[in-house]
Amino acid sequence: MQSKKIVILGTGGTIAGRADSASDNLGYSAAQIGIDQLVQAIPALAAAGDLLVEQVCQLDSKDMDFDVWLRLAERTAHWLAQDQVQAVVVTHGTDTLEETAYFLQSVLSPSKPVVLTCAMRPASSLLTDGPQNLLDALAVAGHPGAQGVVAVCAGVVHSALDVQKVHSYRLDAFDSGDAGPLAYVEEGQLRLVRNWPETQGGRAQAAMNNIASWAVGKAWPSVEIVMSHAGASAAPVEALVSAGVQGLVAAGTGNGTLHHRLEAALLQAQATGVRVLRASRCANGRVLPKATDVIADSEGLSPVKARIALMLALMASSKA
Ligand code: SIN
Repeated sequence: MQSKKIVILGTGGTIAGRADSASDNLGYSAAQIGIDQLVQAIPALAAAGDLLVEQVCQLDSKDMDFDVWLRLAERTAHWLAQDQVQAVVVTHGTDTLEETAYFLQSVLSPSKPVVLTCAMRPASSLLTDGPQNLLDALAVAGHPGAQGVVAVCAGVVHSALDVQKVHSYRLDAFDSGDAGPLAYVEEGQLRLVRNWPETQGGRAQAAMNNIASWAVGKAWPSVEIVMSHAGASAAPVEALVSAGVQGLVAAGTGNGTLHHRLEAALLQAQATGVRVLRASRCANGRVLPKATDVIADSEGLSPVKARIALMLALMASSKA
């Protein structure tokens, strides 16, 4: 029987980063080493299966943008559609990994696994974490029954829906909040502790078609995030509304509560047709809705993920 292929898509990040000195884990440039070179430098990957690599982009993920997301979604969908491809692994910077993971899960909901992985130390580091993370990602990609978009870092597997970067420096930089991790990778073996992200079959194809028909280069719906804090004012919301914003996500305090000045400005924006959502700026927990709420909550999504959900919803409604 022909062995199944795993496709590794490179997008850059610290995992592909390089510094002048092996002891420098800070003063490096992300996205310097091609995915083919990264893979070749890890001999143990050869045992992980029949690999195929493709460079989709080469960037520091702080600079991730919509055209790159579109290209990545298209290349991922392309490879997943091939019978001989078992899974897609994406190497990515840690900084916006949770956004890309959520975006891919939203538009593809794949029935095969799509595994994002990363590193907190550059490839040039004395003790880089990238190779082990990539090996772990391949163990997840090859696991029977794996499906959906997940992220693997420091031996922990997170669902795209829950994953969040929670530490700016530690190797184990991600967390799944109240939901907890999906699995652990231990010496190449997966210990599953909860269900894989759901797949949506035909609905996913419709979402992908919707995105694909959104021409590259065309502006995506304008959705911005505003934060509630002590002394918040109406100014950011008023400026954004004047600039033509279509959606606003408010990162509220605690249970999505808003400073009264910010709330008044958001209600005003909502009354003029801007779509508004309330998320929580807390790292854990979610906004628990009340019958009296006048601004919809983000249904458990963090502000950055709620923004993506709102953009996709606006795209879908503008095509109706
Ligand atoms: C990036 O997100 O591309 C740089 C930082 C990292 O990967 O840790």
